[in-house]
Amino acid sequence: MAEQIASSPDLKPEYEPPADLKSRLKASYDAIAPTYNEWTIPHSATRLHYLDKLLSRLPTSTSTPVSVLELGCGYGVPVTQKLLSYPNFTVTANDISSVQIELARASLLPDPSGPAHGRLKLLECDMLALNFEPGTLDAVVGMYSIIHLPRAEQVEMLRKIVTWLKPGGWLFANFGAEEFAGAENQNWLKEEKGWMFWSGWGSEGTVEKVKEAGLEVVVQETQQDVVDGKVFLWILARKSDS
Ligand SMILES: C[S@@+](CC[C@H](N)C(=O)[O-])C[C@H]1O[C@@H](n2cnc3c(N)ncnc32)[C@H](O)[C@@H]1O
Repeated sequence: MAEQIASSPDLKPEYEPPADLKSRLKASYDAIAPTYNEWTIPHSATRLHYLDKLLSRLPTSTSTPVSVLELGCGYGVPVTQKLLSYPNFTVTANDISSVQIELARASLLPDPSGPAHGRLKLLECDMLALNFEPGTLDAVVGMYSIIHLPRAEQVEMLRKIVTWLKPGGWLFANFGAEEFAGAENQNWLKEEKGWMFWSGWGSEGTVEKVKEAGLEVVVQETQQDVVDGKVFLWILARKSDS
């Protein structure tokens, strides 16, 4: 753990993202997906703990369809998997990495005629390029993924999410608790091809941006990461009914 903290990237107060940021991120996750997916297993309990705060607010009756978008789904374990365990949920799971999307297909749809068949759509693209009809989603989930957008794009993403949510719909996501315009790591998780980028508005700034986007913040909690000691802000926020 000390080694992980020692190799933390510098959090830069000013940062201009490289023009090829998205293709670099895609290439990195394509290269490091198996390492990341194994490294992140100890985070599963935290994800599920906070995900429950969303699930307890969504209808679970089989007669009430629930439409969820997951941004940066990775290989879909455990979050997409948990969402799909509710038979009334349909899930659009997005990721920029083709390797992650293929790993998600293998873990979530091992049997093409299994219970998730027809309720899961996997979309490979930059989350910012997604498009949905206004007012059509019950919830949008972003676990450790919106943090990979430059900060200005995080704000743009929040605005899009609010447009796509139904009245009363939910955003559930985590963000960095520290404020920094950008941070790079040349070989994250000690992977040679693990160039990585993150940014964040900090806890207070993120809560402000979520509110400015038009959501009511219902849960805001910070928690120290069990693996590398970084602090994350967990947000559950709701679009008003009207
Ligand atoms: C830290 S991983 C988190 C994966 C998963 N949500 C989890 O909790 O384990 C970040 C994921 O976001 C994806 N990602 C990064 N930037 C993205 C973008 N602009 N659009 C969509 N996905 C992105 C990566 O490919 C990666 O799978």
